[in-house]
Amino acid sequence: MQIYLDYSATTPPRLEVMAKVGEILRCQWGNPSSLHTWGQRTATILETARYQVASLINAPNVNSIIFTSGGTEANNLALWGIAKQYLIPQHLIISSVEHSAISETAELLNQRGWQVTILPVDYQGRVNPLDLKESIRPNTVLISTIYGQSEVGTIQPIRELAKIARSHGVLFHTDAVQVAGRLPIDVQHLGIDLLSLSGHKIYGIQGAGALYVRSGVEISPLLGGGGQERGLRSGTQAVPAIAGLGVAAELAASEMDWEIPRLTMLRDRLFELMTDCPYLTPTGDRLYRLPHHVSFVLTNPSSNDNQKRITGKTIVRQLNLAGIGISAGSACHSGKLNPSPILLAMGYSKTEGLGGIRLTLGREVILEDIEWTAMVLKQILNRLLQPLVFVKH
Ligand SMILES: Cc1ncc(COP(=O)(O)O)c(C=O)c1O
Repeated sequence: MQIYLDYSATTPPRLEVMAKVGEILRCQWGNPSSLHTWGQRTATILETARYQVASLINAPNVNSIIFTSGGTEANNLALWGIAKQYLIPQHLIISSVEHSAISETAELLNQRGWQVTILPVDYQGRVNPLDLKESIRPNTVLISTIYGQSEVGTIQPIRELAKIARSHGVLFHTDAVQVAGRLPIDVQHLGIDLLSLSGHKIYGIQGAGALYVRSGVEISPLLGGGGQERGLRSGTQAVPAIAGLGVAAELAASEMDWEIPRLTMLRDRLFELMTDCPYLTPTGDRLYRLPHHVSFVLTNPSSNDNQKRITGKTIVRQLNLAGIGISAGSACHSGKLNPSPILLAMGYSKTEGLGGIRLTLGREVILEDIEWTAMVLKQILNRLLQPLVFVKH
């Protein structure tokens, strides 16, 4: 039995997406910038995808969608694209629970003289809008906060944050990679200026994402070249992946009405099944939460010795042996296991920061998978963490 529960890492491409990708590779492989029939046929595919993605987030203008290689590039384009508009470094605000595509970019900007404020979060991972209000300075030009946190599932009060930004005349970007296609997004209602999304998180294929740039917002390109994507992202577009993103976006929009309550029910059932397990504590916000996202920290590490400690990675490996794919929250850089910066920012200890696990659900997951996973996970935890009791005869 194989159960994939890592839909926040990537999703299996849908059949409809694969069919579209195959068709383009076979018959519509022209360069969309070419003026001849082959090129123009492909250009039409590109524009259809642009319309499909714009519709997913209710963007008023299809030209506000700039295709990129994925969420990472969209996030980089948002931050660098705004920063490059200024000759003198300014002030940027991000949260302390950003994906590294934002936090590392902010760090690089800081090294180039930009002032960067990193907003704190509460124990559930939520930014307090009052903190944002107080952090805005006369030279603040951009605020970027993640929409749905990938590691702990928490959803930020994006409309409130965007409203504060707009009332101060500051641009607002959100990394919506975990939200787009999973929850309805209306960029106009939310008052968002820039938004990142990614195709492979919504059953598209890897290699395509998009940055929404509200009409009137000026950004600079990162790449010099042929001037594709309104001059904001040079390079021949990855049309098969982009068309796949378009198909995935349209399907996601049409299926959300039943997929959100279905996933929410499975998510809550998994949390419920794990409540009697003494070794796990749920992380993230239970109310403001991605519908497909379940996460915990290990609360009972077996040993103070770092070499022997049971970490989130241990659980990932054990579950993998049982045919179940999940992920750990902590990052492993150059062989050294580091506590998750997200859990640390939320107030967890360094030890707890090594014990994050995340189980993310998707279209193919059914109730039996959840029940089986809960049973196997409990068995693994009991085996690894239950104290041994020696009975003297
Ligand atoms: C919140 C968030 N932002 C950005 C990314 C990066 O997206 P991509 O893999 O498309 O570059 C991810 C990927 O996990 C993510 O979860």
